[in-house]
Parts: sequence; C-alpha cells; structure tokens
Amino acid sequence: IKKYKGKNFLTLLDYSSEEVLELLHFSRLLKQYQKEGVPHQYLVGKTLAMIFEKSSTRTRVSFEVGMNQLGGSALFLSSKDSQLGRGEPISDTAQVLSRYVDGIMIRTHGHEIIEELANNSTVPVINALTDDFHPCQAMADLLTIYEVKGTFKGIKTVYVGDGNNVAHSLLIGCAKVGMDVTITTPIGYEPKQWIVEEIKAICEETGAKFHITNDPIEAVQGADVIYTDVWTSMGYEEETAKRLADFEAFQVNEELVKYAKKDYMFLHCLPAHRGEEVSIEVIDGKNSFIFDQAENRLHVQKAILVALLGS
Ligand code: CP
Ligand code: NVA
Repeated sequence: IKKYKGKNFLTLLDYSSEEVLELLHFSRLLKQYQKEGVPHQYLVGKTLAMIFEKSSTRTRVSFEVGMNQLGGSALFLSSKDSQLGRGEPISDTAQVLSRYVDGIMIRTHGHEIIEELANNSTVPVINALTDDFHPCQAMADLLTIYEVKGTFKGIKTVYVGDGNNVAHSLLIGCAKVGMDVTITTPIGYEPKQWIVEEIKAICEETGAKFHITNDPIEAVQGADVIYTDVWTSMGYEEETAKRLADFEAFQVNEELVKYAKKDYMFLHCLPAHRGEEVSIEVIDGKNSFIFDQAENRLHVQKAILVALLGS
C-alpha cells in the first residue's frame, strides 16, 4: 500500500472506491492481527500530533491507542493550552509541527482550517472531524456494516436527522462502496448542495442509488441500516432550542423502525442523547451495533495511519 504514503486524509472525496475498499480490507486484517495477538508494529519510532479544538472521547483514545499498538506514539495538543489558542497562525503551526512529527491529526471547526494546515504541512494530515466532514467515522461505519451484513451490495442505508459532518461523510462513503443511501432531514437541515452533487456523481460511477427526502417514514422503508447523530453538533450550541423543535418528528424510535427491515441495524457515531435523536429502546436494543462501531474507529484509523505514515 505504498501509494498512500504522504497523502492527506481530509475527505473521502479524495479517495477512489477501490482505495476505500482497500483501506477497509486492511482494517479487517489489522483487527484480526490485534485479536489474535499477531505483532503489527508498522510505525515504530513515528509520532502523531493530535490537535483538538473540540471535545472528544473516542477519537482521542482510538488514535492514541492505535499509535501505541503500531509501535509509535501520539501527542495530545488542545488548542486551549497550545499557542493555537492564543492566535498563532495555523500555517506556522503546520510548519513547526512538520519538523517534529510524522503526521498531524486535527479536530477543528471550518473545513478551510484543515485545508490550510494540510497546505502548509510536509507530513500527512488526517481529519478527525471538521464542521463539514468526519471521514474516519465513515470508515468505521462502513466496516461495521460490512461485518454485520457481509456485503455492501443491495444494502440500503438511511440517515435520519441533521445533514451534518457525519451525514456528509457517511453518504460519500456509502456511495463509494456502491451502497444505496437515503438521507432524511427536516426542511432547512439538508446536506450541503455541493456535497449532494458530489454524491450523485459518485453514484453514477458506482451504480448506487441516492435519495433525499424530508419525510422520515418514506425514507426508512426497507432500510437495512438506520443511522442517526445528534441534532446539535459541537459549535452550534446556541441553536439547541430551535433544533429540538425542528427535529421533533425525526426521532429514531420503535414507531419509525417498524418501516425498516426486521433485521435492520442501528448505528450512531456517539456521543448520543437518548430521548432526543434516538429512543432508549432503539439505541440499547438488539439491533444496535454502536459499540462495535465505536471499536472499529481504532481498526480503521490504524489502517489509515499505516497507509499514510508507514514506510
Ligand atoms: N464519534 C466520535 O468522533 O466521538 P468523539 O467525539 O468522542 O471523538
Ligand atoms: N456531529 C457531531 C459528531 C460528534 C462526533 C458533532 O460534530 O458534534
């Protein structure tokens, strides 16, 4: 997998269908190695800098543990305690960090920030969530669907809720691997139009079907996978009250999942708000795979790290 060396991982739009599938395949292999205790220290002596401008549990822990398991190390930098929080330009930060570390992971606000970081870094930059994308999450989502369903062919994934970063990356990922994908949002919370255009173009290539609707019941008909995320993402807190009202009809609950296939799987990137975007019965029920999904963050990110930072 030499061809990935030195590449960034900013959005799945930069990766072909074959590359996404190849990285998923490698993730499964690394997962198997870890379960069986097979050594896989591909990144001995390598360091990953991890910049967080927003909170995190899964991303921070899975990247740090992943680097350790690969024989390297990871360095946590919160924007609050680093000079970034005091206004040091992102371009200077990029050039300085590039002199010390072998890769930079960042969780930030506007997607243009990660682009500026990448443009000024001489080491690979990995997107750990921006306002527009969460590609590492989408890779874990795809791996989880594949493990449970055994295929992407003929599988219908339905995203219910806010057309946010997680939704964007999930839709792109599903389209890339040829899964049928539907998104249903309240009016005014649709995914960004330019991203919808990209998804449609990918579907043309892969033969996947894409559907967008404001009617959740229509959307989940025959779903194999139902996915939701919080109604208020980090950085949008001042809209919380309005969003609670606007999303009322979009809770994933027993009533809604009746329209899905009997063996549908429920996914959520976490953290979740039980009783808001999803009912307790659904998220803690037998169709929920949220903890396998969270675990898979570790395995897919290890694959991405080896591909980009490995020699
Ligand atoms: N899903 C996810 O990215 O979780 P964290 O915010 O805990 O990293
Ligand atoms: N959409 C959420 C995902 C958190 C992992 C957010 O951006 O806050």
